Amino acid sequence: MEVTETISIVPTAAVLGAEVCGVDLAHLADDAFRRIDAALSQYGMLFIRNQDITVEQQIAFAKRFGGVEPNVNQQACLPGYPEVLVVSNVRENGRLIGVSDAGITWHTDQSSYPRPPRCSVLYAKEVPVADDGTVLGDTIFSSAAAAYDALPGEIKTRLQGRRASHSYMGRLLARKKAVGLTREIPADHAQKMPLMWHPLFRTHPVTGRKSIYVTEGECTSIEGIPDDEALALIAQLHQLVTEPRFHYRHRWQRGDVIMWDNCTCQHLAVRDYQEDQRRLMYRVSVDGSVPF
Ligand code: SIN
Repeated sequence: MEVTETISIVPTAAVLGAEVCGVDLAHLADDAFRRIDAALSQYGMLFIRNQDITVEQQIAFAKRFGGVEPNVNQQACLPGYPEVLVVSNVRENGRLIGVSDAGITWHTDQSSYPRPPRCSVLYAKEVPVADDGTVLGDTIFSSAAAAYDALPGEIKTRLQGRRASHSYMGRLLARKKAVGLTREIPADHAQKMPLMWHPLFRTHPVTGRKSIYVTEGECTSIEGIPDDEALALIAQLHQLVTEPRFHYRHRWQRGDVIMWDNCTCQHLAVRDYQEDQRRLMYRVSVDGSVPF
């Protein structure tokens, strides 16, 4: 455990993740923020319990990590806050107030973009609870860095320097196949979102640590490798990244703020709750850099 005056960073028992204790995000000193910033690169995922912050304070906190842009899915943003994506199963007047299917297959955010976000900051306003009091709707994180470390040397050597194509449509179709999508995929999405090529093994811009940057379904090919062989390799890498030994499973509490580093981990939102079990989260994503 590392401790400064008030803040402490307490690693989880898993291979990634840490709890940040002793901070109030409504009044965060610069030196405490620097500790959080460094810890995010080191641990890949952080959580802070018992926060009571306004949406402006959430945006201001996210902006300390980097630029914050309007979310591409404006229909699901908080009215008046184009950078705040509402992640929720709540309906008002029969209509969903946000995205109800965010993160329901393993992924790293917006990897089909030229500059995927560095991190996302998610704030729990309401969490679903079963009749027996069990909290539902956990989020599981998996360390793609630990998975890279576990890869056999000959696969690392063979695939080093190669790139995989990331397809936005591929992700949506995989999601549709896995659990059913609650919204239609607009017909023009395929043209608007061309394939994006990123390294199979991504290097963290701060720590230099390598991670596997591949998701099955979303990744559709590997340059220089025939498609049937490439798809088998993508499936193999994906299976390794999502093995339980690399997981930290977050059991939410109302008032949690969590953030994850999109270079070193993948995540999955567990959809084990019903329509009447309300889940309401606000998500702000922070600009990232071109993967290398
Ligand atoms: C996401 O992947 O952005 C959402 C994660 C969650 O709702 O748990």
